Amino acid sequence: STPVILDCDPGHDDVFAIWLAAANPAIDLRALTTVGGNGLLEFTTRNARIACTVAGIEGVPIAAGAAGPIHGLLHPAEQIHGANALGGPELPEPTVPEDPRDALTLMRAVLEESEEPVTIVATGPLTNVGLLVRDHADLLPRIARVVWMGGSTGRGNATPYAEFNAWTDPEAIALVLESGVDFTMVGLNISHQALITREVRERIRRIGTRTAAFGAELLEFFCATYEIAEHMPDGPLHDPITVAMLIDPAIATTVRARLDVETEGVFTRGATSVDLLGVLGTAPNATIAIDLDVDRFWALIEEAVGTLA
Ligand code: BDR
Ligand code: CA
Repeated sequence: STPVILDCDPGHDDVFAIWLAAANPAIDLRALTTVGGNGLLEFTTRNARIACTVAGIEGVPIAAGAAGPIHGLLHPAEQIHGANALGGPELPEPTVPEDPRDALTLMRAVLEESEEPVTIVATGPLTNVGLLVRDHADLLPRIARVVWMGGSTGRGNATPYAEFNAWTDPEAIALVLESGVDFTMVGLNISHQALITREVRERIRRIGTRTAAFGAELLEFFCATYEIAEHMPDGPLHDPITVAMLIDPAIATTVRARLDVETEGVFTRGATSVDLLGVLGTAPNATIAIDLDVDRFWALIEEAVGTLA
């Protein structure tokens, strides 16, 4: 199975990415690292521990990373995820501990201890990964690839042209792209295909595990805020698509394309420029996820929450 470090900012959809990575036998989840994004680092770290506590996931170290982006201030997505970044269910006191190491120290340890290169899945702003490739470049050969939820081939959600994770830390994306690491972008163009319909919510509620019940409450809250903030009553479950693509590469179609990120821009900071037509004449540097096998995706999610506690 594929060794994975999951770097996240839970966040409702991040929680499902954690659950899928922990539950599916195709993934060997070696570490969870957290970043400020959907909420302050204090909340995203605590929420990662809560996600593991609810689902009975033990033995995966959880370490906190960067509190905010490389440049500028963090603007948490409270209108979507609530003030604690995990609005909806009553949150239990986490029993799964926080690792005393910081995220980069834990990432280094996992990468050095692994016999084979490790895949980094990132479902939040790329701050931790950007700092890793900038300040620990000797580890690059130990990173198999980076699969990131963020960006878009089209329009954004944080601003008209920038997706939230990209908008939060465009400099980090630039660092990761410059490093030359094998990079896959799972953007809004595909994540908006993973719609949490009423039928999906019903099916998850009926699964009957504690994890599914907690998950169903997360989804109700998330869809309610998405309806208000983005006029989408069936919100999109963005983040777990990254993990699903590792489990079953055929779950998404992809293309190779030139990817750049706007770090200046009056209106477009954080916009991802994806040269789908090849008009720039520069060599492709990224794999771009395009179309999702939606039924297969939900089957993986439902299987995961049914397998956990
Ligand atoms: C991304 O931003 C966050 O709100 C979600 O967790 C996801 O990673 C979608 O734009
Ligand atoms: Ca996220």
